[in-house]
Amino acid sequence: MLTDAQRDIVKATVPLLETGGEALTTHFYRVMLGEYPQVRPLFNQAHQTAGTQPRALANAVLMYARHIDRLEALGPLASQIVNKHVALQILPEHYPIVGACLLRAIREVLGAEVATDAVIDAWAAAYQQLADILIGAEAAVYDALAAAPGGWRGGRAFTVARKVRESSEITSFHLVRVDGGPVVDFKPGQYIGLKLVVGGQEVRRNYSLSAAPNGASYRISVKREPEGVVSTHLHDQVGEGDVLELFPPAGDFTLDASLRPLVLISGGVGITPTLAMLESALADSQREVVFVHYARNAEVHAFGGVLDDWARQHADRLRVHTVYEQPAPAGPRAPAAIGRPAADQLAAWLPPGRDFDAYFLGPKPFMAFIKRTLQDMGVPPERARYEFFGPAEQLG
Ligand SMILES: Cc1cc2nc3c(=O)[nH]c(=O)nc-3n(C[C@H](O)[C@H](O)[C@H](O)COP(=O)(O)OP(=O)(O)OC[C@H]3O[C@@H](n4cnc5c(N)ncnc54)[C@H](O)[C@@H]3O)c2cc1C
Ligand code: HEM
Repeated sequence: MLTDAQRDIVKATVPLLETGGEALTTHFYRVMLGEYPQVRPLFNQAHQTAGTQPRALANAVLMYARHIDRLEALGPLASQIVNKHVALQILPEHYPIVGACLLRAIREVLGAEVATDAVIDAWAAAYQQLADILIGAEAAVYDALAAAPGGWRGGRAFTVARKVRESSEITSFHLVRVDGGPVVDFKPGQYIGLKLVVGGQEVRRNYSLSAAPNGASYRISVKREPEGVVSTHLHDQVGEGDVLELFPPAGDFTLDASLRPLVLISGGVGITPTLAMLESALADSQREVVFVHYARNAEVHAFGGVLDDWARQHADRLRVHTVYEQPAPAGPRAPAAIGRPAADQLAAWLPPGRDFDAYFLGPKPFMAFIKRTLQDMGVPPERARYEFFGPAEQLG
C-alpha cells in the first residue's frame, strides 16, 4: 500500500526522471535481458537497439509518477500498454522480474545518496500499485478473449491456408485454426501476436489484421525487412500448410462507430490496419471514405487491385488516391501523384468540411507530417488517430 509520504517521494523524483529516465530504463533493460533469460524472447531486440522501447517505458514511468494522485489521468496510455502486453502474452509472473530490475536500476543509476532506502521503498510500493492495475486490466482482457465465441487463452495453432504475394516486399498469410473452428472477432485495426522459434530462439512479433473480421480466418500481411528475423523467416521459410502459434487479437487503434466521413492515410506496410478498417466500413456503414496511400513505387505497392475494385463498386462514396515517391519502375496503374507527401494535395483530397475521423499509419517522419497537416487543417487531435508498428513514440 502506497502511503502519502511515499507518494510525495515518488512525485519528488519526477525531475530526476525527466532528465535521467531514459538512462535508467536503458540500464534496466541491460540488467533484465542479461540476467533473466526467461523474459528475453518477449522483447524485440531491434527496439532495444533503436532505443524506442526504453523510451516508451521511461515515458510511462514518468507519466505515472506525474499522475500518481490521479491514476485515471494515464487514460489512453494504460490501455495502450495493456493491449501491447496482451498481444505478447505478458503474464502476472513477469511483473516481479521487471519490478526487481527497475529498483536495482534506480539504485545503480541514481546512486546511494539519491536512491536512499526511503526512495527505494516508495518506488517499490508505487511499482506494485501500477503492476496491480496492469495485471488486473490484462486479466480482464485475457478472460474476455477466452470466453468469447471462437476465443482462446495463450497460444493457439493456426495453419497457413494461403500465402499470397501482394507486392515485391509484402506477402499475406491467411490463417485458419488447425482444428477448423471459428475465430474470435476483432475490431478493425487490431493485431495478433505471433510466437515462433527462429534459429533456435523463441521470438514474438505483432502483426495487424489486414482483412475485415469474418469469423473463420485471419489475414496478416508482412513486409520483408532487410535482416529482419521474423519477416524474412515468414517470407522464406513459412508456406501453405505450415503451422503458426497465434495469441488472440488486441489493440486500441480501432475504428470507432461514427457517421462522419472516414479518412484513412497510410505509408508503405502501414496500409494493413487501414485495409481492415476500409473493408469493414464499406460493409457495415454508408460512410463516405477517402483512402490515401503512399508507396515508394509501383513495384512495392500492395493491394492496388482490390482497392481499384472497391473504388469501382463503391464509386458513390469511396475515393482512393495513390502517391508514388518514385516514377519508376512503371506499374499497371497510374498514381494520382508522384513525389513526397504534400499538404496542398491532402487538403484537396480530404472532405472539405474537415469534419471527419482520420486514422493514419506509416514511418515516423511520415506520421509526423500527416499529424501536423491534419492539425493545420483544424482537425481536432481526438479525430486524428495513429499508432506505431513498434513502441509508441513522440510525434513532434
Ligand atoms: C501493433 C503492431 C502491428 C504491426 N503490424 C505489422 C504489419 O501489419 N505488417 C508488418 O510487416 N509489420 C507489422 N509490424 C511490425 C512487426 O511486428 C515486426 O516488427 C516487423 O515484421 C519486423 O520484424 P523482424 O523480426 O522481421 O525484424 P527485426 O529482427 O525485429 O528487425 C527490424 C529491423 O531492425 C534491424 N535490426 C535488428 N536488430 C538490429 C540491431 N541489433 N542493430 C541494428 N539494426 C537491427 C533489422 O535489420 C531490421 O531491418 C507491427 C508491429 C506492431 C507493434
Ligand atoms: C508496471 C510495469 C510496466 C509498465 C509501466 C510497462 C510499460 C510498457 C510500455 C509503455 C510499453 C510500450 C507500449 C507501446 O507503446 O507499444 C510496453 C511494452 C512492452 N512491455 Fe511492458 N510494462 C510493464 C511491465 C512489463 C512486464 C512485466 C513485461 C514482461 C516481462 C513487459 C513486457 C513488455 C513487452 C515485451 C513490450 C513490447 C516491447 C517491444 O515492442 O519491443 N512489460 N510496456
